[in-house]
Amino acid sequence: MYTQLQQRGMEQPPVNISTLRKMKAAKEPIACMTAYDASFALLVDRAGTDLVLVGDSLGMVVQGYDTTVPVTVEDMIYHSKIVARGVARAFLVVDMPFMSYTSPDQALENSVRLMQEGAAMMVKLEGGSGQVKVVEHLTRHDIPVCAHVGLKPQSVHKIGGFKVQGRDDAQGRQMIEDAQALQAAGADLVLAECVPNEIGKAVTDSLDVPVIGIGAGPDVDGQILVLYDALGITQGRVPRFVRNFMSDTGSVDEALASYVQAVKDRSYPAPEHCFS
Ligand code: KIV
Repeated sequence: MYTQLQQRGMEQPPVNISTLRKMKAAKEPIACMTAYDASFALLVDRAGTDLVLVGDSLGMVVQGYDTTVPVTVEDMIYHSKIVARGVARAFLVVDMPFMSYTSPDQALENSVRLMQEGAAMMVKLEGGSGQVKVVEHLTRHDIPVCAHVGLKPQSVHKIGGFKVQGRDDAQGRQMIEDAQALQAAGADLVLAECVPNEIGKAVTDSLDVPVIGIGAGPDVDGQILVLYDALGITQGRVPRFVRNFMSDTGSVDEALASYVQAVKDRSYPAPEHCFS
């Protein structure tokens, strides 16, 4: 009987949920990155990234839409499947796209597809306490879940743009309570997007599960960036929290290694990447 490690012929064991929890406990920053295809997934994984997300941001950076709303379950399965071929060590998380988790049963059906057809190890869904029933249902069926709070890009038309969330006290308090409710429902990971530093820290301090931030300040358990933003491929206006790691390096390999290093030594995010 081969162990998973021997089968993959790797020196380092693959990252799993326990690894991520231990990293939070040891205060070791978790380096995460999105990927959308096998070649980039291989480079991202080889750079030492702990978690790879097949984000529905692919709707914007790969498919050329203005939002993530048009992305379908079929799109996510296709990209997840090809990313999985490039990933060896990192933990593979896949986004559930817009309207693919409107009820517990629909969420279960689609997350099973993402895991069985797309090789996802965890699914990510956007929303606060309104998603508690969905998360409970997935958890009851042993589907690992990452809850996404703060800026929820799938709600862009409802909130009126990609804006920092949680700036007023009531909204900030609600976000912390939502994150706690999602953890209690069974979420194994929480992603916080575009929130002031103090909210990123408060969510992180109030949870046992790891919190990954994107534009959530330095005091979270890990950082994630959209690959195309980190490599300077994205055209036009890029969010404040983005750092272009290609500009000081000579290759994609070096840029990705520099990102992982900057997350691990906490030099990224710097104050200019943060919100107050
Ligand atoms: O879709 C995505 O890329 C995301 C980001 C917040 C990382 O969810």
